[in-house]
Amino acid sequence: MSSANLCLLLILLVFSFHSWILRSQELTCNLNDLIALNGFSSCLESDIVGWSNSTSDCCTWTGVTCDNSTALSQRVVSLELGSNKLSGKICDSLAGLHQLRILNLSHNLLRGSLPTKLFHMQNLEVLDLSDNDFVGRIPAESHLSSIRYVDISKNSFFGPMDKNLCKTSPHIQYLDLSSNNFFGEVSPALGNCTSLQNLILAGNNFRSLPKGIFQLQHLSVLHLHNNSFSGPLSDGIGNLSNLVELDISSNSFTGVLPDVFGKLQKLEQFSASSNKFTGILPISMVNSPSLIKLDLHNNTLNGPINLNCSVMTRLMSLHLGSNNFHGPIPHSMSSCKSLSMLHLGHNNLRGQVPYRFKNLQSLKVLILSRTNLVNLSSTLKILQYCNNLTVLILSENFQEEQMPTDVNLQFRTLQVLSIAYCELRGSFPLWLRGCNVLQFLDLSRNHLSGSIPLWFNRFKYLFYVDLSNNSFTGEIPKGLTELEGLIDMNISLEGPSLGFPLFRTATDGATFGYNKIWSFPPTMDLSYNILSGPILPTFGNLRRLHVLNLNQNHLSGSIPESLSGMTNLEILDLSHNKLSGEIPNSIVQLSFLSKFSVAYNELYGEIPAGGQFMTFPYSSFEGNNGLCGRIYTPCQPEHAPTISRGEQMIIFGSQFAYGVVTGFLLTVTICFMSGWIVPRGAPFGVLNPRQTDTS
Ligand SMILES: *[C@@H]1O[C@H](CO)[C@@H](O)[C@H](O)[C@H]1NC(C)=O
Ligand SMILES: *[C@@H]1O[C@H](CO)[C@@H](O)[C@H](O)[C@H]1NC(C)=O
Ligand SMILES: *[C@@H]1O[C@H](CO)[C@@H](O)[C@H](O)[C@H]1NC(C)=O
Ligand SMILES: *[C@@H]1O[C@H](CO)[C@@H](O)[C@H](O)[C@H]1NC(C)=O
Ligand SMILES: *[C@@H]1O[C@H](CO)[C@@H](O)[C@H](O)[C@H]1NC(C)=O
Ligand SMILES: *[C@@H]1O[C@H](CO)[C@@H](O)[C@H](O)[C@H]1NC(C)=O
Ligand SMILES: *[C@@H]1O[C@H](CO)[C@@H](O)[C@H](O)[C@H]1NC(C)=O
Ligand SMILES: *[C@@H]1O[C@H](CO)[C@@H](O)[C@H](O)[C@H]1NC(C)=O
Ligand SMILES: *[C@@H]1O[C@H](CO)[C@@H](O)[C@H](O)[C@H]1NC(C)=O
Ligand SMILES: *[C@@H]1O[C@H](CO)[C@@H](O)[C@H](O)[C@H]1NC(C)=O
Ligand SMILES: *[C@@H]1O[C@H](CO)[C@@H](O)[C@H](O)[C@H]1NC(C)=O
Ligand SMILES: *[C@@H]1O[C@H](CO)[C@@H](O)[C@H](O)[C@H]1NC(C)=O
Repeated sequence: MSSANLCLLLILLVFSFHSWILRSQELTCNLNDLIALNGFSSCLESDIVGWSNSTSDCCTWTGVTCDNSTALSQRVVSLELGSNKLSGKICDSLAGLHQLRILNLSHNLLRGSLPTKLFHMQNLEVLDLSDNDFVGRIPAESHLSSIRYVDISKNSFFGPMDKNLCKTSPHIQYLDLSSNNFFGEVSPALGNCTSLQNLILAGNNFRSLPKGIFQLQHLSVLHLHNNSFSGPLSDGIGNLSNLVELDISSNSFTGVLPDVFGKLQKLEQFSASSNKFTGILPISMVNSPSLIKLDLHNNTLNGPINLNCSVMTRLMSLHLGSNNFHGPIPHSMSSCKSLSMLHLGHNNLRGQVPYRFKNLQSLKVLILSRTNLVNLSSTLKILQYCNNLTVLILSENFQEEQMPTDVNLQFRTLQVLSIAYCELRGSFPLWLRGCNVLQFLDLSRNHLSGSIPLWFNRFKYLFYVDLSNNSFTGEIPKGLTELEGLIDMNISLEGPSLGFPLFRTATDGATFGYNKIWSFPPTMDLSYNILSGPILPTFGNLRRLHVLNLNQNHLSGSIPESLSGMTNLEILDLSHNKLSGEIPNSIVQLSFLSKFSVAYNELYGEIPAGGQFMTFPYSSFEGNNGLCGRIYTPCQPEHAPTISRGEQMIIFGSQFAYGVVTGFLLTVTICFMSGWIVPRGAPFGVLNPRQTDTS
């Protein structure tokens, strides 16, 4: 008997023995696979729910699927354990699942590097390891000859890309490497991955793009955003005639946009924002019948905005903000009938909003801040016909015009309104009465005078009110303390989408990041006005409020004890008023309070101790004649509000005061950096020129 025959016999013996075992124990899963799965689970730190006391028929285990086609023993063909809170490492034994076609371990807490053997699984078709903590390089010698789908996004893999990828994996259709630390050139070998449809490389450090990419005729999704690509964008992109989505934003591309959009007849989404593109809009782009979403914001593009709306009939979202476009807003734009989100803010435009904009019936979001617009009165008269308008941002225009008084203006669907930094004169706009669903109102930095109307409580959903830096007089109306959205925790305040990824947050490469208006903290800012009278005790009902700023007014009376009811308050600024009496002890209960000031009032008595109060600096209390305790002088048994500020300074010495002030500045700086004062990632850019887009 030859040794080959002997071998064969042995194998047959082992095999029949094995099948005997299988039958005798009524096993249905292949022994190799059982061993591999047990090896896999023993390397994990966590138990897999449903594996610990299972039978040895692994085909019935959670996430395991077997192939029924072979009679003798069933082979594991798919292991899908996404979102199972798995932690620990993956060891070699997993590669023992020789027939495995689908491996999905996404959204777990797995870490460490991947075993090389995993990259030699001949039958593997789908590999999804996304959203874990894997590290290390992808082995250079990978050989996944059946692979179609690879998603290893949201890990910490690094290194350059596999040079042999397509030689050994010719059928790959979907490749997602986004949100890792890959760097260098995108592998030229990709040019041979002729089946590739989705290539997602966003959120890495790739620097250059090989020519080969432009030969991928099946490519429909190409996401290259948030990398380090530079130089001009190649004309070759026009070869990708099946492209549907192209995102090259947040790189350092320069030069003009190639005029190749005529060839990209399926292109629906194009984003090239936050690059350094110059020049005018390519003719083929403004005549594209396929584009639905176009985002070119934060470049230095110029020329007029000359969309051919008789062709661009599908265009829904257009963001050209923060560029150097000039000329008037073209009235032909009103023929882009599908337009629902339009952002032209921060450009060198001029003139008025075209009369024909009243035809934009799909318009939901309109942002025209800092565009040198004039005639607020006609602007509002026209836009009131846009029946679906929910977000209207007109800040930094209409300098020194009059706030329209026409009470017949109707904005029934408006949720967000900002007409700030316009130096408008006049009084509070009474036409706002009809805006029943208003959530966000910013009229700051105007010269509005007169009183704040009594009927604020009609805004059931209002959670952000900024009337600061105007000349409002009179008392704070009770209605402002009766805003249901700030009182009733049950009211859903899901704000509308701003529609534009002003600050891109999503890095998974598959979706666009939208900023919700709700990312602003619930705020009431009445600072820098001439308001007088008391602070109403009913402020204490505003449980949801995070920021209350009454700084720089003429408010008098005492600080109501009930303010302790604002349990979510983070910032309370009552400084520079005429408040008298003591600081109520109850305020110590505001456990989220991080910034507090009652400086420059007429308060006296002992500064409450405990809670957050131990962290507030001297500057929070300075400018009051009669405060004592804590960082002031100790209170007398019968506290006598007689010590003058000069004396206090002497008692503690200038070094102490210096330290305290520095501490406060540091705190404020940290507050700023950590987003306490300016919410992190919030789209202040459009609303507030203190943090403007570069333009
Ligand atoms: C594991 O055993 C427990 C008790 O013995 C039982 O309640 C549970 O259903 C078993 N789980 C599985 C997946 O068999
Ligand atoms: C295998 O067969 C079982 C029962 O006959 C069935 O429930 C299961 O879906 C089959 N699996 C596959 C992959 O066909
Ligand atoms: C992997 O599993 C997750 C669920 O945890 C699922 O969302 C995802 O689509 C799966 N991946 C693939 C490629 O099917
Ligand atoms: C693509 O494949 C061909 C043929 O196998 C080979 O000659 C060529 O070098 C490959 N191109 C790249 C960029 O790897
Ligand atoms: C860009 O990608 C890096 C990872 O390379 C990530 O840390 C960062 O948050 C991303 N930035 C944006 C705006 O997506
Ligand atoms: C574009 O396609 C043409 C013909 O299909 C080819 O000759 C040319 O080299 C391609 N350009 C690039 C940059 O790949
Ligand atoms: C604008 O683009 C530059 C790079 O060109 C980037 O550094 C900056 O963060 C971007 N600004 C915004 C607001 O996206
Ligand atoms: C706009 O498109 C129409 C229809 O294709 C065309 O006739 C017209 O010349 C275009 N206008 C401009 C300015 O390109
Ligand atoms: C306006 O909005 C409503 C509700 O969201 C929608 O049903 C309607 O189609 C929109 N109108 C237009 C012209 O888009
Ligand atoms: C504003 O526009 C209206 C309508 O176009 C016009 O009648 C009015 O004179 C304009 N006002 C100013 C100050 O330009
Ligand atoms: C109001 O104006 C003052 C002085 O001009 C300025 O310091 C402050 O930042 C402004 N506040 C707001 C909220 O704009
Ligand atoms: C608010 O919700 C609670 C329970 O979630 C419920 O008991 C209460 O009645 C609700 N209040 C209102 C005003 O709907």
